[in-house]
Parts: sequence; structure tokens; C-alpha cells
Amino acid sequence: MPETKEKQITDDAGECEHWIVDNNSSHQPYFPSEERTFPEPYRLYRFLTDLDDVLASTPADYQRIQRIFPLVRQLLTSSYWLQMEYNEPSPQLGWSVKMLYQEPDYPLTIQMVAWSPGKVSPIHNHATWGIVALVSGEEKNNFWRRSPDAQHPDRITKVGEHILVPGDIIGFMPEAIHSVEPSTDEPTITFNIYGATDFAQRYEFDPVKHTAKNF
Ligand SMILES: [Fe+2]
Repeated sequence: MPETKEKQITDDAGECEHWIVDNNSSHQPYFPSEERTFPEPYRLYRFLTDLDDVLASTPADYQRIQRIFPLVRQLLTSSYWLQMEYNEPSPQLGWSVKMLYQEPDYPLTIQMVAWSPGKVSPIHNHATWGIVALVSGEEKNNFWRRSPDAQHPDRITKVGEHILVPGDIIGFMPEAIHSVEPSTDEPTITFNIYGATDFAQRYEFDPVKHTAKNF
């Protein structure tokens, strides 16, 4: 796999299509500086092979996210069929997950997730790196940060929000805390990748009771 060039983070969001949410839930625009060429078509097995190479060669989560961004973009534009690989949101739950790739004892999960308008996700971290690409609809991300006080060690406060439109890709560090909701009357369809979750460190937060519980 070719080496990526050094990337840069800037404050000039402009028309940015890539965002990274750090462990303090600050979201920052990211502008890839690399023009990489890919085989055409960029099939799922090639993507998985490249992903495997990144995971093996890049131990730091932040750099992993940066290096996986172009792979995700190429996959979704080259293997267009993937964008149709989702289940309609469950009427009861308001969401659905279609697993695209999962292998026992391998630190990678790839899913297509659909959310109904009016449905808000729990506030959660992932306890692993994650990347989400918006395929259709518009998704509002709400970002939260731990702000404990003497009485409430699991207190959080909202620190930002960002609306993703189709073509946007966002990366999450393991301790980033967010909730998502469709921001229009259309369902949102997202392509999601997660590393190996440390379930003991994955929480769902209650911003009113100031509590957190494993999920
Ligand atoms: Fe999430």
C-alpha cells in the first residue's frame, strides 16, 4: 500500500467534507493532502485489504482515521451498489442496522445504518475509533463532553453540533461523545466502520440525571 503524505488540520472549514471528533468531542475539519490513485473498480475486498494494511501499519487511532478516509470515499463512489445495501428503519425502533462485514476475533465492524426522522440516538461514546459516511439524508450530530462535578462524576455538557450532508465523512476518537438525529424529514443512511470496542468503556449518558451506564 502506498505511503500517505503528511496531513494537516486547519481551522478553515470552508467546504470541508471530512471531520474528526477528538477525545474531548471537539470536531475539527480535516483536509486530505494526498491524491491517491486506486484500482478501478475499487471492490469491497480491495477496501478490506487496504483497511487491514492501515490497521497493521498505523497503531494510533487519529492517524488511522485520517488514512481510512480516502478508502471509504473511494469505496462509496466506486462500489455504488453498497449505497443500496441497507434495511429500512424498523417502525418499532426507528432505526436499522445491516451488517456488511464482521468476523469473529477480528477488530472491525462495517454496517449500514438507517434512522427515521424524529428519532434521536442515545448519547454515547464508542470506546473505539469509528468512521461514519453519510450516504443519504442529513444527519445532525450533537457533541457532548464530560464535565463532572462533585456530585455527578458522569455529568456531560453539550459542546457543539454539526450537520452532515451526503458525501461527508466523520471520524470519531474512542472517547468522543455524541448523539445523532435526522435533521430533515428524510431518513438518514450511513456507512459505519468501527474498530474493536472496549465494552467496559462504552457508555450511554443521561444528560438530565447526570448518569452513565454501559451498553
Ligand atoms: Fe455513534
